[in-house]
Amino acid sequence: MKLLLLCLGLTLVYAHHEENHDVVTSNFDMSKLSGEWYTILLASDVKEKVEEQGSFRMFLESIQALDNSSLLLKYHKMINGECVELTFGCDETEEEGVCSASYDGYNEFHIVEADYNDYFILYYLNYHNEEIIQGIELHARNPDVSPQIKKRFEELCENHGIPKENVLDVTNADHCSQD
Ligand SMILES: *[C@@H]1O[C@H](CO)[C@@H](O)[C@H](O)[C@H]1NC(C)=O
Repeated sequence: MKLLLLCLGLTLVYAHHEENHDVVTSNFDMSKLSGEWYTILLASDVKEKVEEQGSFRMFLESIQALDNSSLLLKYHKMINGECVELTFGCDETEEEGVCSASYDGYNEFHIVEADYNDYFILYYLNYHNEEIIQGIELHARNPDVSPQIKKRFEELCENHGIPKENVLDVTNADHCSQD
């Protein structure tokens, strides 16, 4: 009996594990990105953008899907030693998995891949004064993310010409939530 229960338990754990690894890379359901997030990795081809004082050094708190298909993104960041809340709407575009927002210029946010219960990777293009900057962000439901996902992120960065040294692990750099 004990053995049977153990087997059943393991089967359930296994099934649960499987269910948690539904990675999607197309046909995104943006509304499933709703809820709380932690920012884990930040990368940009212009490294200063994600370093201290950089405009894209931001920490995602939550996403809310609005009725008009826009996403409401709530971030915070440190500005001159103070925690500042940043909330902006990302409006649906004709391209699937892509929304646009104004922040430090005009931005196109592309969802690259997502496992809605675990993590998602965001690729953005920032258009500002005739300049285009690209960046990639990894956000997760929990601060501890598997090394495989981080590795996958680095590969994506490489594919976009962003070197490994421009990838910053900010899991423990979020001074606002540490307090
Ligand atoms: C969607 O609704 C939000 C909140 O009401 C608004 O700020 C945003 O501009 C709307 N987006 C579009 C594309 O209409």
